[in-house]
Amino acid sequence: MKWLLAPLLLTSSLALSAEPSRGEAIYKQVCFTCHGPTLQGGIGPSLVDSYWHHGSSPEAILDVINHGIEGSEMIGYKDVFPEADLLSLRDFLISKQEGPRELVRSLYPREAFSGKRLTLDLFRTVESTSQTLLPENWISMERNADAVLRATTKLYIVEPGTYSFAISRRGRTAILLDGKEVHYSDDKAPKTQNTNQSFTLKPGTYALEILHEEKRSHRYRFHGTLNGPSGKNFPLNGRSLQGNIPKIIKARPGEALVVRKWIKDLPPRALLCLLPNNVIVAYNAVDGSVLKAWHSAEINQTPSLPDRSQKPSEIKGTPIAETRPDLLGEKELRFLYYKTEGDSALVSFQTKDGKKTVSISPKGAQSFSLSFQ
Ligand code: HEC
Repeated sequence: MKWLLAPLLLTSSLALSAEPSRGEAIYKQVCFTCHGPTLQGGIGPSLVDSYWHHGSSPEAILDVINHGIEGSEMIGYKDVFPEADLLSLRDFLISKQEGPRELVRSLYPREAFSGKRLTLDLFRTVESTSQTLLPENWISMERNADAVLRATTKLYIVEPGTYSFAISRRGRTAILLDGKEVHYSDDKAPKTQNTNQSFTLKPGTYALEILHEEKRSHRYRFHGTLNGPSGKNFPLNGRSLQGNIPKIIKARPGEALVVRKWIKDLPPRALLCLLPNNVIVAYNAVDGSVLKAWHSAEINQTPSLPDRSQKPSEIKGTPIAETRPDLLGEKELRFLYYKTEGDSALVSFQTKDGKKTVSISPKGAQSFSLSFQ
């Protein structure tokens, strides 16, 4: 069954229009050097993943933009830009958010729920024993939580299309969007009683609730994702990222990806071009040379809390020996921009003789090629 959900109106205006705003313009002039042109992070953290060290609410984001974060490279911009620009910056960041945000985890005593289907109604008559706003938008549980979980979040959708949840069947789980049940699974009940609908979402914000219970055990292992169009998926994990395995960054099949990450022994402005054949080329946008390259490679972003910005990320892979440095053979280069086109990364420079673009493309299973445009 497919049906359309009407997006909730937000109190803060979301800049979802295609018109570039003042905030977007400032982002591209100021913030991109640390947070990356696609907000994927670099010296500063990614602003589009599930981890917000300082809060994911519009208020928390504005607070960081205004006052910065003491002891880090992130300065406050309150005295730099007028208030309207700061609000526009906040709205620009929010318009790039996708997935669950502002996650509140509430725990309830089990008794009230035993033998009953998990519905929102049941929660109206029971007091929560603990409520926590989670900075990371992942559901994490204490050890030996002897409770029923209710996770309340806002779901930000940017791309319209068909979405569905993929939830590992452990214990029982109900998921509601704007109060309507879209998923129910219970590992004790016959499968016919379970539902898992696909649904169409428009860009906007939705109320997402997850009700979950499982056997008392070492820790909850709730695990699921929200899967959307173009292969996007948003984790709703059951464990905190802290002390956990690092986040892996790889190119998607057929699509190159360019990121800036802090990698030991590489200059901070190196462009890391991840090609779909799992080759990573570290490209120096200052002089147009290849710094280093690896095959069978991936980037491990350091776990976020509490010190993701203080530790470099790591590239794991096999170094490729023959890299060709200084391909442009030009001394007077000015880096203009980079972008991806299909399986290739394109880096454009202004040179004495006009604009030149270097295309970095996959070659075979373990190599890459460079060409000019
Ligand atoms: C000189 C580098 C640099 C620049 C420029 C910069 N930032 Fe940051 N930013 C950082 C670092 C580093 C952090 C992480 C600080 C920490 O958590 O210790 C950060 C954190 C943030 C956070 C909080 C992220 C979270 O996980 O909660 C937001 C929001 C943010 N920056 C927005 C901006 C905006 C908007 C601009 C442009 C006006 C900007 N930044 C410019 C380095 C920078």
